[in-house]
Amino acid sequence: MKTIKPIILCLCFLCLLVVFSLCTNDNEEDITETSTCDTINVNYNTIAVIFDAYCLNCHNSNKTDKEGIILDSYENLKASITNYDEVLKSIKHESGVKEMPLFGSKLEDCKIAIIEAWVNKGMPEK
Ligand code: HEC
Repeated sequence: MKTIKPIILCLCFLCLLVVFSLCTNDNEEDITETSTCDTINVNYNTIAVIFDAYCLNCHNSNKTDKEGIILDSYENLKASITNYDEVLKSIKHESGVKEMPLFGSKLEDCKIAIIEAWVNKGMPEK
């Protein structure tokens, strides 16, 4: 009986090691994911693809009924964001504004971060 105890302890220790190494792997993945979210090199092209994919069906120059929110060219997008702080609020699902994209799920954190970074940079075209 006396020799079994250390063996069980060893096994437990091994199990713990395995669990911990799995956890560390997860963390590494998380870190690489955030580091691929580039909020430094942002210009109109970077964010236009996001608005194109999630907003332009409804907010383009042919559809002027959406409270003046037209998001389909550099000039239009810049004007909409400058004149309506609802644009950023709506994608962040802040209270008091309609949540956008309408009928769609919230944009991923990275996309929102990229848009915010672009606005904070002064909305550079290039
Ligand atoms: C399926 C169509 C559709 C999509 C996609 C869509 N919107 Fe809208 N959006 C609307 C409509 C319709 C309204 C007017 C809502 C109302 O007044 O009831 C609106 C209103 C808004 C408003 C004004 C909100 C307020 O509370 O004043 C903003 C800002 C806005 N949209 C931004 C966006 C952005 C940014 C995207 C992309 C992330 C987007 N929308 C995607 C249809 C859409």
